[in-house]
Amino acid sequence: MSEKTFSPGLAGVIAGETDIACVDQGVLLYRGYPIAELAEKTSFEEVAYLLLYGELPNAAQLQAIKEKFFQYAPLPTPVIDAIRQMPEEVPMMDVLRSMVSYTGHFDPIEGDDHDANRERALWLTSQIAGIIAARFRLMNGKEPVDPMSGLSHAAQILYQCHGEAPDPLAEELVDLTLVLYAEHDFNASTFTCRVITSTQSDIVSSITGGIGALKGPLHGGANEAAMEMLVRFKTADEAAAWIKEALAKKEKVMGFGHRVYKNGDHRARILEDKLRKLADKLGKNEWMAIYDAIKEPMVNDKKIYPNVDYPCGLTYYLLGLPLDLYTPLFVASRVTGWSAHVLEQAADNRIYRPLSIYTGPKERSVPAISER
Ligand SMILES: CC(C)(COP(=O)(O)OP(=O)(O)OC[C@H]1O[C@@H](n2cnc3c(N)ncnc32)[C@H](O)[C@@H]1OP(=O)(O)O)[C@@H](O)C(=O)NCCC(=O)NCCS
Repeated sequence: MSEKTFSPGLAGVIAGETDIACVDQGVLLYRGYPIAELAEKTSFEEVAYLLLYGELPNAAQLQAIKEKFFQYAPLPTPVIDAIRQMPEEVPMMDVLRSMVSYTGHFDPIEGDDHDANRERALWLTSQIAGIIAARFRLMNGKEPVDPMSGLSHAAQILYQCHGEAPDPLAEELVDLTLVLYAEHDFNASTFTCRVITSTQSDIVSSITGGIGALKGPLHGGANEAAMEMLVRFKTADEAAAWIKEALAKKEKVMGFGHRVYKNGDHRARILEDKLRKLADKLGKNEWMAIYDAIKEPMVNDKKIYPNVDYPCGLTYYLLGLPLDLYTPLFVASRVTGWSAHVLEQAADNRIYRPLSIYTGPKERSVPAISER
């Protein structure tokens, strides 16, 4: 019998094989393509196709996936009604989790094979964007708007939130974040999706579980949490004083650190570059001073680098997006990566069932109730 090892948080444990992404110190590849090239040369729709079909689309395939996203965008009336009835104080991620599960009851796709589930992934991707936008509108006292044909996925979300065609720069940057967020190997939420799939449960259950895992601040919730931290400071000096104290108290700083990347996150570098240009263009360089005041001691003194959520929070903020949209936008993208993993897991499945080390009481007898 082989020796059993214990690794808290499964750190360093290989839990499966995947063709979808390679996450390493020096590289992040989606199906072999470096993230920097994808960020520069492709849109979210192309990346979604790449993840779900294994290859980049040609022009006709790209057009077809765009049409599918549009076709699958309208929300079932009962879903809009249910969003309307959600209490005001329910956070957007909780609404999303509940409504993805609920819209699953109105699934228009027939069958349960690989192709049907891939189609379902496209449908879920569109539904998720629509749910986010409908909730956003209703929270702002406005009626949801119907999707508009011909828009990119990024533009559609922004259009359905604001009711008007987005500024091209906002579309470009949101599209970039969707490309960067789409896939990241066996992270906590993807692993959650794979574990659920491994029981031969359905894709809607897997994606619902993924949303639950992603919302935590140690994972996708970090983009919102990072911005919640930054908005507390009016000046770079205030930020510098705070980070000094936080590090002395060994506090976790949101948007920094990564289980795999120890020398920096490729996605963060790509997005930070765009963020600096955005801040400059908008005349908001004071925000970059605050951003850098936190980043410098983290990198220089602690050798803990920003992850993608750190520049993403501020990018969304400078684009005027409200904080509780940040993690849902992560979902709007990652649903594609999750779905690719669901398909891959289902195609070569073994149920996930790790072991534990029992640390409870020694074996004992159940006393009669009068003796307890
Ligand atoms: C991402 C994260 C969960 C990875 O966790 P992990 O691999 O278990 O790493 P650990 O938490 O064990 O961190 C290792 C060390 O670095 C420190 N560290 C890691 N991330 C840190 C952060 N964001 N702020 C301050 N210290 C941090 C830990 O305190 C620990 O220090 P120690 O060895 O003195 O105890 C963790 O870095 C984190 O909580 N980051 C903040 C949340 C975040 O941005 N999440 C998004 C990830 S993409």
